[in-house]
Amino acid sequence: MPQPSYNIYFEKENIEDAVKCVNEHGYCVIKNILDKNLLKELKNSIEDLLDPSNDFEDGGFSFYPSIIEDSLPVRKILEIKPYMRFMEAILGSEDLTVHRSLAILRGSGDPTGPWHTDESLREGEATLPDDVMNRFGLPNCWFYLNGSHPERHGIAVIENSHTKDWIPPEGFEFTPDKSSFHLIGEDKNSCHQDLNVPGCVEIIADPGDFICFAALTYHTNMETKMRRHSIGMALRPKILKVDAPWPLTESGKVMIENFPDHLKSYVEEYVGFDFNWRK
Ligand SMILES: [Fe+2]
Repeated sequence: MPQPSYNIYFEKENIEDAVKCVNEHGYCVIKNILDKNLLKELKNSIEDLLDPSNDFEDGGFSFYPSIIEDSLPVRKILEIKPYMRFMEAILGSEDLTVHRSLAILRGSGDPTGPWHTDESLREGEATLPDDVMNRFGLPNCWFYLNGSHPERHGIAVIENSHTKDWIPPEGFEFTPDKSSFHLIGEDKNSCHQDLNVPGCVEIIADPGDFICFAALTYHTNMETKMRRHSIGMALRPKILKVDAPWPLTESGKVMIENFPDHLKSYVEEYVGFDFNWRK
């Protein structure tokens, strides 16, 4: 399986080099950020919220936007010192707020997904929720709670695809909105769905590891061969203001009100997320 010639794995004491790796290559893995108890609590929380009736099927895909509003264990991530030190270093600020959060549950049999960037590269006025939230160049931060490995499930990235001047490898071209790419000659809007792309790195990580990739880095989920749980959370410096076109939900308001005092500053400028918002 394709692996990089440079180191992408960092101990939690070595935040500086982890940040450098993201800036240089567009991604990194920081080892052992979650302890066993929190790992279990997070998995259980995803199960409770995404499969409450225990009928999630093989090949399934389900997600829970703004999971921090309804999951107490997700809030505990903000108490992990090395994680917060990394976020402060990569964002260049200690004054941070929760930007987005998301949990994903995938069942065995879910195929490799389409390559894409999470950053909204569409120009002009925001018409979709991602246009509102994903134009800040914020890194994507994920916990793959069952680890990441091509033989089981997880994430693959295209190394060095995080810079504005990156273009798809020879034989490939961007979709018109640059959200994805495909083989030259295919339908202009189609998204490539195979790991056989030059520069592809199939990430290998353990369950407690933290995977970070830059805002633009192109990535995809590898074929899911076992049930898997993941949680993503993005923070943003409060200096970046979001003019959200949606009202804060009731659960968002309740969360802010009940947030523990020592973490309250992290939700001061929280705006929630309306997955169904369209303009
Ligand atoms: Fe993504």
